[in-house]
Amino acid sequence: MPDNERNIVWHAKSVSREKREAFNRHRGCVLWYTGLSGSGKSTVANKVEELLSQRNAQTYLLDGDNIRFGLNSDLGFDEKDRRENIRRIGEVAKLFADSGTIVSVAFISPYRADRQKARSIVEEAGLDFIEIYVKCDLAVCEGRDPKGLYKKARSGEIKNFTGLDAPYEEPLAPELALESGKYDPETLSKQVLEFLNRKHILL
Ligand code: ADX
Repeated sequence: MPDNERNIVWHAKSVSREKREAFNRHRGCVLWYTGLSGSGKSTVANKVEELLSQRNAQTYLLDGDNIRFGLNSDLGFDEKDRRENIRRIGEVAKLFADSGTIVSVAFISPYRADRQKARSIVEEAGLDFIEIYVKCDLAVCEGRDPKGLYKKARSGEIKNFTGLDAPYEEPLAPELALESGKYDPETLSKQVLEFLNRKHILL
C-alpha cells in the first residue's frame, strides 16, 4: 500500500547525524561481512570491534546466529526466509549506522541480490555500505567445522546447508576481500582498520 494511503508521516529529527559523527570522531557505517559458515566472519568482526573500542569508537555487532535467537527467530534457511533475514538486518543496520554507530553485520548472506538490496537500503540513506568478503575455501571451512554443522549437513541431518546443498554467491566487487584461509584474524582485522582509515570513516 502506498505511504500516503497508510496515513503515516515522516518526522524530521532535531539531533543531526553530523552532530553525532562529530561527537564520536567517526562516521556511522555498515561493515557487511559475508562468507561461508566457518569462514571467520564473526571472529574477524569481533577483533575489529576490539580494535575500534580501543579508539573509543561506538560499535555494535549484529551476528547471524545471535539475531536468529530473537528478532529473526521466526525464520529458517530456505531462500525466502534468508531473503527476509537479510532485508530485516539491512533495515536494522541502517538505523544503527544512522545513529552514528559503526555497525558490523556478520551474516552468511549467500545471495547477491539480497546483499545488493541491503546495500541499497543503507546507501539510499546516505550511509556507507562496506561489503567485506571473508574468503575461505569450502574445504577449509568444513575442516574447521566449529559448530559441527557441516558434519550434520553431510549426514543429511541439516538440509539447505550453504556451500553443500544451498548456494553461496561470491561477491563480484566487494569493497574488501579478506583471505581468511591464509591469514590469521589479527592480520585481517588490521586490514579492515586500514581500510576505515583510508576511507575517512575514522575522523
Ligand atoms: S543467512 O544465510 O540467512 O545469512 P545466517 O548468517 O543468518 O544465514 O545464519 C547462519 C548460521 O546459522 C550459520 O553460521 C550456522 O551456525 C547456522 N545454520 C543452521 N542451519 C544452516 C543452514 N542450513 N545453512 C547455513 N547455516 C545454517
